[in-house]
Amino acid sequence: MIPVVTIDGPSGSGKGTISRALAQRTGWHLLDSGALYRLVALAGLLEGLAVDDEAGHAAAAARMRVCFDVAPDGSERVFLQGQDVTAGLRTETTGAGASRVAAWPSVRTALLARQRAFVQPPGLVADGRDMGTVVFQDAPLKIFLTASAQERARRRYNQLKDKDSGVSLAGLSREIAERDLRDATRPIAPLQPATDACVIDSTALSVGQVVARAVELGALRGLWPAGL
Ligand code: C5P
Repeated sequence: MIPVVTIDGPSGSGKGTISRALAQRTGWHLLDSGALYRLVALAGLLEGLAVDDEAGHAAAAARMRVCFDVAPDGSERVFLQGQDVTAGLRTETTGAGASRVAAWPSVRTALLARQRAFVQPPGLVADGRDMGTVVFQDAPLKIFLTASAQERARRRYNQLKDKDSGVSLAGLSREIAERDLRDATRPIAPLQPATDACVIDSTALSVGQVVARAVELGALRGLWPAGL
């Protein structure tokens, strides 16, 4: 069986950075499932769907043509129906739209097979909210990454301030709190640690320290050699 490491947690907990670093270190593939929910929200906008049209968004999720690419300077490029949507993908407005469409069961179902298709040898690092609880329940290593609300808002602010001139720390704190509340209280696939997840609080840890902990946990489970 091809192994999967799941990394779930709230926005700004560092999942994206840690998942990328771990995938690079192990040579495993990477699934950024949040990007798929963000793309569904953008597909809805492109198609002019009403914001409450669940069936329309589920159909868009099933048929959307997505391409993840790396530009010559190493930066990520994302295409939706052949259109470069990189600039709009990571904004907090798109994040809020993603969190709305992600609460709909039919949208989640429509994305299941697409997410599972990322499982390819030698292994997959999967980043999201329900990777360990729903999509990859049998994963041999599940990590739930947390950090204080204040630290998470600060990290998101530093990430976004150069790309999105409209962001403020206070505004972001509010938006992140709203999004996390919606993600954690929705009836389907709510944001919560799997019962067998290792919880890591990254508030006072560096990226290197969190990656080292993840590498150690994977080695303990025989996923890769110790000291990789
Ligand atoms: O991780 P990211 O901020 O890109 O995710 C955007 C939104 O997509 C989240 O707030 C959440 O509502 C949704 N999401 C989800 N399940 C996942 C990944 C993301 O519901 N596995």
